[in-house]
Amino acid sequence: GRVWTEIKSLKEGLKDKEVLIRGRVQTIRAVGKKMAFLVMREKGFTVQCVLQVSADLVSEQMLKFSKNLSRESIVDIEGIVSVPQVPIKGASQQLVEIQVRKVYCISKAVLNLPINIEDASRSEAEIEKAEQAGEQLVRVHQDTRLNYRVLDLRTPANNSIFRIQSHVANIFRQFLLPEGFVEIHTPKLIAGSSEGGSAVFRLDYKGQPACLAQSPQLHKQMTICGDFGRVFEVGHVFRAEDSFTHRHLCEFIGLDAEMEIKENYSEVMDIVDRLFVAMFDTLNENCKKELETIRSQYPFEPLKYWRDKPTLRLTFEQGVEMLKSAGVEVDPYGDLNTEVERKLGELVLKEYGTEFYILHRYPQAVRPFYTMPSFDDPKYSNSFDVFIRGEEIISGAQRIHDSNFLKERAEACGIDIKTIRTYIDSFQYGAPPHGGFGVGLERVVMLFCGLNNIRKTSLFPRDPMRLDP
Ligand code: 4AD
Repeated sequence: GRVWTEIKSLKEGLKDKEVLIRGRVQTIRAVGKKMAFLVMREKGFTVQCVLQVSADLVSEQMLKFSKNLSRESIVDIEGIVSVPQVPIKGASQQLVEIQVRKVYCISKAVLNLPINIEDASRSEAEIEKAEQAGEQLVRVHQDTRLNYRVLDLRTPANNSIFRIQSHVANIFRQFLLPEGFVEIHTPKLIAGSSEGGSAVFRLDYKGQPACLAQSPQLHKQMTICGDFGRVFEVGHVFRAEDSFTHRHLCEFIGLDAEMEIKENYSEVMDIVDRLFVAMFDTLNENCKKELETIRSQYPFEPLKYWRDKPTLRLTFEQGVEMLKSAGVEVDPYGDLNTEVERKLGELVLKEYGTEFYILHRYPQAVRPFYTMPSFDDPKYSNSFDVFIRGEEIISGAQRIHDSNFLKERAEACGIDIKTIRTYIDSFQYGAPPHGGFGVGLERVVMLFCGLNNIRKTSLFPRDPMRLDP
């Protein structure tokens, strides 16, 4: 019956109480021959522990043992809570200390850590300031971080990033379930490419050519034909990307939704609008500490978005006009490149004061084969992209629900019909008008937190150069 206390709950109220904690050794500092300070860390919270040799409580031997503990080892400490006269600098639990009675090493870390957690936790500004003062600080390179990801994840900011990610997926579910969406799980081993294009991982499926799903697109639409009305999925998405960029991964988590449409595709945009405003509100409200922790290493401004009126919707044509007025010429029936998307984001922010908006009615030519063309002008389509800080986080559309038309479009796009036969056939037994959208989870977290690289928001990122760890 020993009573465990979490480091985060060590407060002045526990003065003179005996506590037992488990944490990692963050730092060890010996003072003279009879004393040492250990800073212990548990889930981002830290406390200073004092070892003072005394006849009856702490032996010389125990002091020696403690001084030899390696950083990052998991250690249990039994001791008495005391309240120091001045707050402890460098510990989150500044108002208390632990007078150590016993120390047990539970799991020893190697002496030479490939990443020093303190080095890896500093912001660029802190490093620069220290450098100006003549100190030489270690900058931990992104690749080193990823090679030793388990250590990198211990830094407070990175740890918080994945707590935020957990919230984003959770908010997605909690919002859609009461709206009548059913959670589904579609196969990731499929016969053909689901988005068209060449970026698929091919594999051998018991002698039959197959590939990893580029999205749940085909099967989520097929469940609509199975009368679920509204569905969503949180799942892995595979893209054999050739481009090595700050925002492309070869495997990411897709938040997908698909729903029947009564009148038009604005019903899908309405869901996106309400879902994301609720998401940003909830993150800002419930994740203050995590956001603050991320910000202290990677500074960013809170996202500007409209809360008191529906999210800004611009047509692609309007976007092209805005760009044109700013001197940026783009093909009115082509796609926007990353740079132009950013530029448009800046223009929108300046004119409308929001960094979150929907661009819709894209040219048909730049959308996947299953996209419904606009009824009044087939050069355009009933489709949309959604942007945060000038970068795409979502794409969505109304889908073609007529199997003959779908087949025609697939053929026109050079797709091998054999590989998607059952998908196309699904629509010949009666299919409701429908539409949906796909969100990149890592992109949402990256852009909401103003981070500059998607590798920071993927737990174990897969990019064209990385399959390990
Ligand atoms: O734009 P994408 O390719 O659209 C689809 O997959 C459609 N089936 C969605 C739909 O329902 N119409 O991908 C959707 C989102 C993008 O907006 C982006 O956020 C993310 O997935 N994404 C990527 N994230 C990381 N790495 C990549 N290589 C990504 N490709 C797309």
